[in-house]
Amino acid sequence: MNYEENARIINDDIFDLVNSCFDQEKSSRNNEGRVNFFDTYKDYFVLTDDGSYSIKSKEINHKVETLHTSTGAISESFEKFIRPMKFNYDDDIAILDICAGLGYNTSAAIAEFLDNSTDSNLTVDMVEISHATLACGLLVPSPIKEHDITKKAIENELIAQDYATLNLETYEIPDNIDINVYIEDARQTVQRLESNTYDAIFLDPFSQNMAPELFSLEFFKQFRRVIKDNGIVATYTSSAPVRDAFIEADFYIGQGPIFGRKQGGTLASPNPLMLDTSLPKNDEIRIALSDVGIPFRDPNLNSDSDYILEKRTEERHNARHNTRISSAVKTPIFLACEMDDEKLKRRVERNLAKMNIPSTTSNEAYYIVECENNYSKKQDEKNNSRNRILDMKEKLKKVKSGNYDNT
Ligand SMILES: C[S@@+](CC[C@H](N)C(=O)[O-])C[C@H]1O[C@@H](n2cnc3c(N)ncnc32)[C@H](O)[C@@H]1O
Repeated sequence: MNYEENARIINDDIFDLVNSCFDQEKSSRNNEGRVNFFDTYKDYFVLTDDGSYSIKSKEINHKVETLHTSTGAISESFEKFIRPMKFNYDDDIAILDICAGLGYNTSAAIAEFLDNSTDSNLTVDMVEISHATLACGLLVPSPIKEHDITKKAIENELIAQDYATLNLETYEIPDNIDINVYIEDARQTVQRLESNTYDAIFLDPFSQNMAPELFSLEFFKQFRRVIKDNGIVATYTSSAPVRDAFIEADFYIGQGPIFGRKQGGTLASPNPLMLDTSLPKNDEIRIALSDVGIPFRDPNLNSDSDYILEKRTEERHNARHNTRISSAVKTPIFLACEMDDEKLKRRVERNLAKMNIPSTTSNEAYYIVECENNYSKKQDEKNNSRNRILDMKEKLKKVKSGNYDNT
């Protein structure tokens, strides 16, 4: 069953309209459906604050999400995915754009490349599971002129796959830009990609409750294989299981830019020097010590999202009071803290006792979070979020197993 059939649909109107527009194009060989689509069905598009348009997803796992932030769809691409990159525009650049959607992230990358490069080449591999969503990218007004280049690449592939029929996009793709469009589950694509290839990976799925399969440890292990040593993965989420999965997959991690949300996203790289800013202290502590940090798992890169969510809930349950401190009342963040609220303190210390930590101000508590004394917002090769998280995990293990010498 493909993605379009699989998603239980309440919000499928726009996707039905897009599919029927391209079906009619095939039978009539007439360009009118495509040319008039946006004006006819404008209400199905979501106008965001910077004037660029988004669309709403199908219903997946009982949720519907807009593809982009209401703060600004194309601005989000520049702020979250392009700004944190440290491209050397004198060299050739290769980007993997996972969940390419309407093609905004690719278009922003092209715009920056054309502004900054002299005689280097850009390759973008776009991966998107839904033909209709890519086709929507052809129907929406281009928010920047470089989107017309992306549209041409999308149109070429939709014609090659017999979804679109007419060549209506007039922009030429520049000779120094190569865009490949994969229309399939990114978990399949990534397994076929060559190792050590990409300078950047844009990871832009729906949220983790809708698409946990695109945030799994095993998926990130593939990223680690295909990314270059100085490459950077960017994603918008600040979620603990996502960050822990990057660490388990052998990445360094850092805080991404804040745009349209309260918290910054996440950057990951094999090289700590590519990442300037540490995660906030309490995020590090929760990822390292609490069951909230347990990652999503998808061992064969083919499980469905409900199964992945259920398995993680089970694993969290088993880890709580066993290998991880309970996430209830954010217990781990009170380690090495004096607490005034007696009621909260009792709850926290009850959770800590189950992990052999007598109190928030015990030697054990100070020992586990000791590395946070050297916390600095600016990270470097030694002093960084990954190293601190691994250090705290190791110390918690020692305390729980009784291997900690209290003298
Ligand atoms: C938040 S939107 C991405 C927006 C996009 N980056 C843009 O610039 O317009 C998420 C996209 O992920 C796609 N998607 C969902 N599951 C996928 C999968 N397994 N593989 C590839 N794409 C997927 C959806 O169809 C949707 O277009």
